[in-house]
Amino acid sequence: MLRKHTRATMPPAEQPDALRREAHLQATSVRIEYRAPGAADSDVTLAVDNANLELLRSDFVCVVGPSGCGKTTFLNAVAGFLPIQGGSLKLDGKDIPGPGPDRAMVFQQSSLLPWRTVLDNISYGLELGRTMKRREARERARGLLDLVGLSGFADRFPAQLSGGMQQRVNLARALAVEPQLLLLDEPFASIDAQTREVMQAELLRVCTAQDVTALFVTHDITEAAFLADRVCVFSPRPGHIVREIVVPFERPRDQRLRRSPEFLALVDEIADALYGGSSTSEGEIH
Ligand SMILES: Nc1ncnc2c1ncn2[C@@H]1O[C@H](COP(=O)(O)OP(=O)(O)O)[C@@H](O)[C@H]1O
Ligand SMILES: [Mg+2]
Repeated sequence: MLRKHTRATMPPAEQPDALRREAHLQATSVRIEYRAPGAADSDVTLAVDNANLELLRSDFVCVVGPSGCGKTTFLNAVAGFLPIQGGSLKLDGKDIPGPGPDRAMVFQQSSLLPWRTVLDNISYGLELGRTMKRREARERARGLLDLVGLSGFADRFPAQLSGGMQQRVNLARALAVEPQLLLLDEPFASIDAQTREVMQAELLRVCTAQDVTALFVTHDITEAAFLADRVCVFSPRPGHIVREIVVPFERPRDQRLRRSPEFLALVDEIADALYGGSSTSEGEIH
C-alpha cells in the first residue's frame, strides 16, 4: 500500500522542475481578519495570519487544525466569500475576485433546497447558470446520482433522506457544475462514525474518478490521513500552516488501510504536529 513519492504526493517545493505540475491554488502569507463596521482596532479578530499553501491540479489536500483556528475562514476566502487583508491568494495565477463557477463548496450541514427533489437539487445549479437545457441538466444530474450511489432516490425530498445521504446529494450537486476546485468544510462532521468511514472512501473514489482537485477541511486527524495526498496542519488562531505531511498511500484506499501500522504511524505524526509531541514542542505551535 505504501508508495514512493510520485508527482502527486511530493510537496510542490521538492518536485524536480521537469515534473512540476502547475500550481492551481497559491496562498502566500495570507492574512484574514474580522472587523465589524466602525470597530476599533482592538475589536478586530485576526483569524488567519501568514498562511502559505500550494495546491496542484488533481491534488487532494486536507487542512487539519483545532476548532476556531481559522480553517473555515481560509476556505471561505478561497471560495471568494471573504476578502483577505494581506498576502496573496491566487487561482491559476490570478487574484480571486469573488465566488465563481470554477469552485464549488460542500458545507458541514446539508444546504439542499427542501422543496426540491433530490434530482432537482442537483440540476438546479446547472439550470441556474443557464449553461444547459433542463433536459440535459437532468441527465447530467442522473449520472451524478449514480456516481454517489443514490440512483434510486431521484424523486425523494431531502427530508426523506438520512444525513449521510443528504451529504452525498450535496457532493453530487457540487460536482455537477464540474468545478476546477472542490472545497469541503467538515462535510462529514455530523454523520455517525461508521457512515463517515464509508463516505470518506466514496468521496475519494469519486474525486479520483473525476480527477477533481480538492481542498478538504477537518478537525479529524484520521479522516485527513485517509483522504489526503498531503495534510496541512494549521496552528491555533491566528491560523497558519505549521507542517505539511505527505501521505504515502496509493489510491484507491480501502477500509483495511485504517488498521495498518503505517496508517497508525501517520495518524500519530499528524497528532504530534497538531498537539505537540516528541518531535514538536508545545511552544512551536503558537
Ligand atoms: N463572522 C465572524 N465575525 C467575527 N469573528 C469570526 C467570524 N467567523 C469566525 N470568526 C472567528 O474567527 C476565528 C476562526 O473561525 P473559523 O474560521 O470558523 O475557525 P474553524 O473553522 O477553524 O473552527 C474564531 O475565533 C471565530 O470566532
Ligand atoms: Mg470551521
